[in-house]
Amino acid sequence: MVGDPTSPTTFNRVQTKLFLILALAGYVFAKNEHYIGWKSYFVGPPIKEHVKTLVILGEKMDLDYLSPPHPEREAIVLVPPRKQLEFIKTLKNFTIKYRSHAENVKATLDRDDERIRNWTNIISRNGGAVTPYNSYLCLDAIYGYMHHISMRHKKTVTMVTAGHSFEGRPLKYLKISTTNFHKKSKNIIFVDAAIHAREWIAPPVVTWIIHKLTDDVTEPNMLNDFDWILMPVVNPDGYEFSFSEKRLWRKTRSTNTDPQSFRCPGVDGNRNFDFAWGATGSSSNPCSDTYRGNRAFSEVETRTVRDILNTYSYRIYMYISMHSFGSMILYPWGHNSSDSKYSFNLHLASSAMVKAIRNASLPHFPDYVNGNSGKTMFYTAGGAADDYAHNLGIPYSYTFELPGLSGGMHGFELHPMHIKQVCKETWIGLVAGITKATKLTEKDRS
Ligand code: ARG
Ligand code: ZN
Repeated sequence: MVGDPTSPTTFNRVQTKLFLILALAGYVFAKNEHYIGWKSYFVGPPIKEHVKTLVILGEKMDLDYLSPPHPEREAIVLVPPRKQLEFIKTLKNFTIKYRSHAENVKATLDRDDERIRNWTNIISRNGGAVTPYNSYLCLDAIYGYMHHISMRHKKTVTMVTAGHSFEGRPLKYLKISTTNFHKKSKNIIFVDAAIHAREWIAPPVVTWIIHKLTDDVTEPNMLNDFDWILMPVVNPDGYEFSFSEKRLWRKTRSTNTDPQSFRCPGVDGNRNFDFAWGATGSSSNPCSDTYRGNRAFSEVETRTVRDILNTYSYRIYMYISMHSFGSMILYPWGHNSSDSKYSFNLHLASSAMVKAIRNASLPHFPDYVNGNSGKTMFYTAGGAADDYAHNLGIPYSYTFELPGLSGGMHGFELHPMHIKQVCKETWIGLVAGITKATKLTEKDRS
C-alpha cells in the first residue's frame, strides 16, 4: 500500500503534520491575558433554599457558573476581579459555604494550554495521528478531517456547507447514508456540538461518531439502518474565539442584536431557538453569558440547526445536542421541568445509554445520570435546541452533558488524554440508546 494516498499510513503522516500545524496555530495566540486577576470558587453544596439564592445572585451579578448551583453538589463560579469583594461579602451574608477553585485563573488556563501542547507532541512523537477525536483541534483541522472523510467515502458521505457564520466562517456538516438520503422511510439521527464555544470535548465526540460510521464500522446496523447528520461545530466563531482570545467564551460573536452588542458581542445559541424563547433561564442583557438575542433565531448559526431540524423533522428519530460538562443525559421539557408526553420512552432509552456508558467508563469518571432537564439540573431555560426539536415532533431529543474531571479549569478542559475514552463510551451509549429506542417504537406499534 506504500504510496497509496488513501492508505491509513499515508493518511497518518500527511494528516498528522497538517493537524499539528493547524492545532498549534490555534495556541500561539492563546495567552489568556483576559483572565488576569480572575478567580473561581466552589460554592455550597447549599441547602435547598440557597440554590435559588445562588441562581438569583448569579443573575444579579451576572456571574458565570461553570457548574450550576445544585443541592447535592458544589457549584463552580468564575468571578472577575471587579466583582470579587461584593461576591464574597454576599456569600458571607447568606452564610453560604465557599472555597477557592482556581486562585489564578490565567495561570490555570496557561497550564491547560501547555498540557494540550505536550499531549499533541506525545502523540506525534509516538508516530500516531493527531485527529479531532484524540486532541482539541481548531476549526480548520476539524473541517479538514470532515473533508478528508467525505473524499475517502464518496459513496456514503456528503459534506454540506449550509451557510456562513456571523463572521463569515462556513457552517459545515456531514450527511452519512448508505442510500444517499433517498430512502424516505429511513430514520435520521442528528448529532451536533459546540453551540457553546468552550465545551471543547463535544466536537471530538461527533467526529468519533463520523469515524465509527466510516473508517471503523463495528456496528454495521447503525450505518445501514439509519441516515446520519453530524455537525461537530455549530458555532465556529465562538469556537475559534475560545482558542485565540477567551478560553471560556460560550456565545456566538454577533454584534447586530443590540447597540450594546458591539461592546458585548454574542448570543447564547441555546437560548435563541423559537420555543419558549425568553420564558426562563435567559437574559435580555447582551453582556450576559445567557443572552437570548433580540428575537428568536437572531443568529445564523441557530437558524442553520433550525433548518436541518425543520427540513427533516418527519424523519429525525433522535436529535442529540452535545454539551459539557456534568455527565448527564437530559430530556424535555427543559423550559419548565414539565413532563413530555414521551417522557417514559425518553427515560427508558436514556437509561439504556447511561447503563452502557457506565459499563464502558473508567472508575474515576463521574457517574452519569439521566432525567427531565429542569428536574435534573435545578434550572430551567427556554429557547433551547432540545425543546425546539421535541416540539417539532422529534421523539428522542436529548442534551448530553459530557464528562468533566477535576484538575485544571475542571470540566471544560478535560485532560486531552481522556478525549478518546469519552468518545468511545459516548458512542457505546448512543448505540445502546438507539437500539433501545427502536425496540420501544416496535413495541408501541404492535
Ligand atoms: N447546559 C445546557 C444549557 O444551559 C442545558 C440545556 C438543557 N435544555 C433545556 N431546554 N434547558 O444550555
Ligand atoms: Zn452547553
